[in-house]
Amino acid sequence: MSDAKGAGPALAMLGSVPLFSGLGKSQLRTMVTSAKERTYRAGETIVKQGEKGIGFYLILDGQARVEKAGQQVAVLGPGQFFGEMALLDQQPRTADVLASGAVRCLVLSPWEFWSAVGNEPEVLRTLLKETVRRMRSGPAALSD
Ligand code: CMP
Repeated sequence: MSDAKGAGPALAMLGSVPLFSGLGKSQLRTMVTSAKERTYRAGETIVKQGEKGIGFYLILDGQARVEKAGQQVAVLGPGQFFGEMALLDQQPRTADVLASGAVRCLVLSPWEFWSAVGNEPEVLRTLLKETVRRMRSGPAALSD
């Protein structure tokens, strides 16, 4: 897996992410240059259920599976995000997220996230809608 050499590929990717479709080029560029890119090997735990964590993750390449109490509840791919729940309520992670194969993510700190989208109602609306959908999905989602 190659390391990121610049903002170009991540920027092009972000432009096509539905969550960020309302953002302008300069906002996307600010986000990409401040955020960090991380790569994970197959099987690696990216976030762990029950642990404190604050990062917001956007998948650039590869697939990650979401597991609650060891049960798979979702598979996420390029353009999809995770980690928004702990970011929103500052409580422990609600699920494990594991790399299914090699996974490359853009990781935003809370500060980077809020300064990029805190004043963007369309982004926040999309984020909340997806978060509520996730919380409603499946009986496993109803328990802590
Ligand atoms: P967070 O709780 O911060 O960390 C685990 C993440 O898994 C969570 O944020 C969501 O991004 C994601 N997640 C939890 N439940 C689901 C679900 N049912 N479908 C998709 N993603 C989920």
